[in-house]
Amino acid sequence: MSSPIIVLSVLLCCWKIQFSRALPTFRGGLNRADGLCVKLVQPYGYQCEELAVETKDGFLLGVQRVWSANYIGERKKPVFLNHGILIGGDIWVLNAPPESLAFILADAGHDVWIANVRTSEFSYGHVSYSRSDREFWDWSVDELSAYDLQAMLEMVYARTNSKVLYVGYSQGTQAAFAAFSEHRLVDIVEKAVMLAPVAYVDHATSLLTLGAQTHLDLLIASLGIYEFSLRAQNKPVTEYLCKLSDDPECTENFVTLLAGPNCCINDTRRAYYEIYEPQSTSAKNFGHLAQQFRGKSFDKFDYGFWQNLVRYGWISPPTYSLPNIPRTIPFLFFYAAKDALAAPQNVAQLVSELQSKPELVFLPDYAHLDFVVSYNAKDLVYPKVVEFFNS
Ligand SMILES: *[C@@H]1O[C@H](CO)[C@@H](O)[C@H](O)[C@H]1NC(C)=O
Repeated sequence: MSSPIIVLSVLLCCWKIQFSRALPTFRGGLNRADGLCVKLVQPYGYQCEELAVETKDGFLLGVQRVWSANYIGERKKPVFLNHGILIGGDIWVLNAPPESLAFILADAGHDVWIANVRTSEFSYGHVSYSRSDREFWDWSVDELSAYDLQAMLEMVYARTNSKVLYVGYSQGTQAAFAAFSEHRLVDIVEKAVMLAPVAYVDHATSLLTLGAQTHLDLLIASLGIYEFSLRAQNKPVTEYLCKLSDDPECTENFVTLLAGPNCCINDTRRAYYEIYEPQSTSAKNFGHLAQQFRGKSFDKFDYGFWQNLVRYGWISPPTYSLPNIPRTIPFLFFYAAKDALAAPQNVAQLVSELQSKPELVFLPDYAHLDFVVSYNAKDLVYPKVVEFFNS
């Protein structure tokens, strides 16, 4: 009697699994015509290989390997570039080659690996979920560190057979600090450059902090919104934040209010940057930042009393303990006076908790975005990065 039912349910179960794994999330597969290599690297004559790596929780991350065919000489160590929040790996190649860090490092003989974390533009989706699913957006920097960074760096290490030179920017630094504090990846990363280093965010002055203060994250969660976007289609968030702002020109000054007054971004290129940025992040990731802002902490995501007990075995989330970061990784930090996200007070706190003494470079005129898209980072920042990696 029961055996047909068992057979049927087994069939249904497996059919469902097969079906869900076959969802077309790859958008044209590797070397897709709209991929980062094709669009942003190969037009400048650089070699570029499009790769994907699957995380333990099923995201297919895009990684592009860039090198210069013109470089003659001994190949240098691989460099891994990890982007920040609300942007993607494209940020490293948005300026012309003499001004973009990825190309500068390739010209210096490095094999450059560009990271694209889950859900960012030049990543490859998820094996089962699509952008409209809640699960697609169910992550914060905890997963970026534990799954994305882990999977991508292990791939680079395995393919190059070499320790990796790390460059993080903003959330790309926070994911690394989280990993190192848990003694993950510390044997793979040889040196690390941190642009706008972030562990704590409570001194941030970004417009986003007004969202955190007014519990915008909880409002968004209660409305069942999973994707956090500052693009036109998600006007409510922009409008909400601008209502809280005392700047009457908030919409026009939005980028400045978000990231700080950049000194050195070429305004005539702004329309071009806006083709690619900003990109979405998850509402949960924004919520996690809001928790860190309100709690003045660098903890894992706070799920609330009971869920914390289930997940972490304690009523509150564990802290990423910065003193646990081994002193064996040499650090070079760049931070900026006018940075609205990586505030100098928070950088000082981060530095004071590390066992090692990072080399520090302070930029009095810079704000958050100058590190990656200014026309003079090629003079003020990138030569020091190349030198640090070669020393
Ligand atoms: C700004 O961008 C324009 C267009 O790409 C370019 O012609 C100009 O030289 C740039 N200016 C600077 C200071 O880099």
